[in-house]
Amino acid sequence: QTIAILFGGRSGEYDVSLNSAAAVIEHLDTAKYELVLIGITREGNWLRYGGSIEDIRLDRWHEHPSCTPSFFSPSRDVKGLVELAGTEFRITSVDVVFPVLHGKYGEDGTLQGLLELAGIPFVGCGMLSSALCMDKELAHKLVQTAGIETPRSLTIHKGESMEESLSVAQQLGFPLFVKPARSGSSLGIAKVYSMEQLAAGIENAFAHDSKVVVEQNIDGFEVACAVLGNSDPLIGVIDEIELQADFFDYAEKYTLAHSTIHLPARIDDHTASKVKETARAIYEVLGCKGFARVDMFITADGRIVFNEVNTIPGFTASSRYPNMLQASGLAYGQILDRLIELAAK
Ligand code: DAL
Ligand code: MG
Repeated sequence: QTIAILFGGRSGEYDVSLNSAAAVIEHLDTAKYELVLIGITREGNWLRYGGSIEDIRLDRWHEHPSCTPSFFSPSRDVKGLVELAGTEFRITSVDVVFPVLHGKYGEDGTLQGLLELAGIPFVGCGMLSSALCMDKELAHKLVQTAGIETPRSLTIHKGESMEESLSVAQQLGFPLFVKPARSGSSLGIAKVYSMEQLAAGIENAFAHDSKVVVEQNIDGFEVACAVLGNSDPLIGVIDEIELQADFFDYAEKYTLAHSTIHLPARIDDHTASKVKETARAIYEVLGCKGFARVDMFITADGRIVFNEVNTIPGFTASSRYPNMLQASGLAYGQILDRLIELAAK
């Protein structure tokens, strides 16, 4: 089978993608798969790449002499794009595309829609599900319909009266989280304790997105489930973030300087099965397939509250998603085999 790996991309999570993709490429069984590597620069140029994994990790891949403009490039006109997408992958006989991309234009349904139009099987959630999971406002609304609790929140669109937004947001009670509605790795997110910080947080979040959500802080701790499958998916061992820092921001996520990930989470069996059931229901209501990491809070009094779904979760060899599945007996390479199988279904 020929697998096309897409890495890099135009989102703020470009660097995370390089690390995830390097690990994925390293662990794909070359006796089983032929690999076609396509890097996407920060500017959005798609380049076929034939260099080393190390140069991807070090972000030197785009300087490699093997780089040639990919036939399939979004800089081309849209009319020809879908046909080109099909042609590109058919010329190289790509069987499955694995977008190892995080955030905007990779994880948010845009790329997935293109691949669906072109009729090319790909790893992970489809267009609609990807778009819904990327949008914190819409994901929360849908998850509520399954009877699952979400943090109380307010959505603000660019151009709406700041004064009115501030007064409504204030009623949620400090501290508050201000988030661009569609971003990843906590980019653009702030935890705020005062009206001044709230106003600054909203302004800053608008630099990332035209829609911002303000959420109440959940008193408790965060857990996650690694979900793998289409229908009746497998759920790995639950993990837990023990936070000593103020919140799990971008730097903290990738340095773990002030936090510890507990695997398994320090919860009893009854709570663990409730968490898994909740994750399963969230996965289902959001129409996920392939894989996703479902993030939830457990409150001090034992309630489970939805946080978000990552449809292309961090996938380095030490990332939470593969670790949680490895803890339940699936090796990293086996997870990849399963994802590729699921893509074709
Ligand atoms: N958005 C990052 C990659 C994650 O959720 O793991
Ligand atoms: Mg995320």
